[in-house]
This record gives sequence, structure tokens and C-alpha cells, in this order.
Amino acid sequence: MLIPRHIGPKYGNRVTVKQIARYLNGPGNGTAKPRSRLAFAFDIDGVLLRGKNPLPAAKEALSILDGNNKLGLKIPFILLTNGGGVSEEERCRKLSSQLGVQIHPDQFIQSHTVLKSIVHNYVDVPVLVLGGQGDTLRRVAEGYGFRKAYTTLDILNWNPSIWPFHNLTQEERASVRPADFSKIQFGAIFVFHDPRNWALDTQIMCDVIQGIIGGSHETNHTRKPVDLVFCNPDLIWQSDFEAPRMGQGAFRVAFQAVFQSLTGSTYPYIQFGKPTEATYNFAEIMLKHRLQGVPKSSLYMVGDNPESDIAGANTAGWKSILVHTGVYDPHRGPPSHQPTHQAEDVAEAVRWALEQEFC
Ligand code: G3P
Ligand code: MG
Repeated sequence: MLIPRHIGPKYGNRVTVKQIARYLNGPGNGTAKPRSRLAFAFDIDGVLLRGKNPLPAAKEALSILDGNNKLGLKIPFILLTNGGGVSEEERCRKLSSQLGVQIHPDQFIQSHTVLKSIVHNYVDVPVLVLGGQGDTLRRVAEGYGFRKAYTTLDILNWNPSIWPFHNLTQEERASVRPADFSKIQFGAIFVFHDPRNWALDTQIMCDVIQGIIGGSHETNHTRKPVDLVFCNPDLIWQSDFEAPRMGQGAFRVAFQAVFQSLTGSTYPYIQFGKPTEATYNFAEIMLKHRLQGVPKSSLYMVGDNPESDIAGANTAGWKSILVHTGVYDPHRGPPSHQPTHQAEDVAEAVRWALEQEFC
């Protein structure tokens, strides 16, 4: 019988499940199932999935958490990804079928989920929502509470000469919302997910920020600056292609390079997503909600990207485990951020963490 390190001394060596249950759950009938004292946050791309395909170790890891471990403990976990592009509900439905385990929205955080915590500042403010297909992210934004969410396709539909190199497809035309953007003053631009047309989106972001679109007749000095928010800082990420792909962070770099060439300076922005403190705080609240009283030191972040997964978890005071199934390649030298531990894959990572807590 695995004797949890912090139980052994209290009960001597021979400990029954009942005693563990009483210790973990306190006095009472002792029949309640022992409760976990650790929890996991799993990254998705490069840890559980490669593109649309589950990684072989993913199902094994999730099955261990589902009670297939020596203590028969169900161990809580959340998924914490810099991905996005659809609603949390829709992504959880897809993940549940890909991973063969029910994933609930209350254990799932994607790059733009954290915007739920600031939407109250923008409820009736016209905002530009970037990324994803068609108007999918307008509907996600409205689901969060943004009442005046527009897309760059709406603006191109209003005046096609804004960007002469893209003609709206039939599908895009079906997704646009007609509006007169000469009368709309944007308060913010939210890059929810990776833009599909970097050139069109860069042009319109520059126009909106400089008041060329939606600026009405106010001069630069009197007009309230447009807030610019990015939800995912990843320069690269691991898909099902052999080499990492450019992420939303690469789009941000490209936009800033163009904006600086046009105006002489880069534009100030707010960054969300891993490794930001805002996103890890949001995740910690969700984790603590699932598991009362677990110390930070028993929160384990399992990720493939040192810059986002490991850096953020380390700063948050969690344990961090870097796996070799994604962005980080151990043959290319030490990681830019030192994890608590490295593991070949997510199953090995879970087994190692359980040993830390229960052996
Ligand atoms: O676009 C998603 C990518 O940046 C990384 O996703 O799941 O590895 O955080 P993830
Ligand atoms: Mg990843």
C-alpha cells in the first residue's frame, strides 16, 4: 500500500484505506473515498494532442487520473491551452471525443477564456474581434458578454477598397454583419485567436488604431486610444507537422513591425495567455474550485513549451513538468526555463508526480 509521505509518520507503517480516508477527509464515517491532495493542469498541443490526433500517452495519463492508480484516487485536472478559436463548450465536446474522457467547460481554459474577467469594461463598447473562421469568434465574444463585437470581414464588406487583395468568399459574406463604420468608434481590438488573413487584419488594425476607420473627425490628440489585447503570446507551437508552426505571437511581431514602419513606434498592448500571471491566476482559481485546500506546491503543470507552460507555472509557484512530445526538443540543449522535472511524455509525467506526492 502506497503510504503518502505526510501520513506515514502520523500513523506508523500499517495504514488502512479507512485511516487514509479519515486523514484526508477528517473525522466522520471514514467510508468516503480518499480525496486527492494534488492536481494537474495539462497543456494540450504537444502534450495531449498533435494537431487533431491524441498522443498515445494521453489516454494512459487520463486513465491514471480517473482512478487507475494504486490509491484508487480520482485526481482532479484542468486543461490549460493557448489555443482557442471556438467556444469552450464546443472545444470540450471535441476534446471529449478525441481523448475519450468527458471534459467539462469548468475544467477548461483556452487563450481567450480569461477575457470573461474583463468583459465588464467593454459590454457596450464597439470592439474588433480577430482570429478564427468567419464570425465564430464574434459569437464567442457575445457569449462572454461583448454586445458590440465586429470582425475585419464586417469592415471589408462595408468598404472592399479598404483591402483590395481579398474578395469575400460566399461563406464569409454569409458571416458578416452590415454596419456603417464611419459612425463606429472602436474602444478595443481583441486578438482572440490566430488570424486567418494576416495582411487584411494588419491593415485594418493599423487603420482602426490610427482613426482611419471609425475615427470620426476627432484628431489623434482628442481621440481615446484603442486598447489592443492579444490572447496568446506563443511565437511557435507544435501541431501535427514535424517542425513547430508560427503562432499568434508571430502575428503580433509582424503587426508591430508594420505599425512601427508606418508610425515610427510600436503600439502598446495587453498580453494574456500562458505564461502571463493573469492566465495562471485564472487557472489557479479554477483548480482551487475543484480541489479545496491543495497547496500551490501540489499543483502540477505539464507542458511542452518552456516559454509558456514552464515559465508561467514556475512564476505561479506550481510544480512544472516539461515533456518531450512537442515544441521542446532535448537534443537542442537545455530549456529556456528550468522545469521541476522533465519526462518523455504526459503519462510518465503523471506517474512521476504521483510518486512525489505518495511515496
Ligand atoms: O495556438 C495554440 C498554441 O499556441 C499552443 O497551444 O495547447 O500548446 O498551449 P497549447
Ligand atoms: Mg503546447
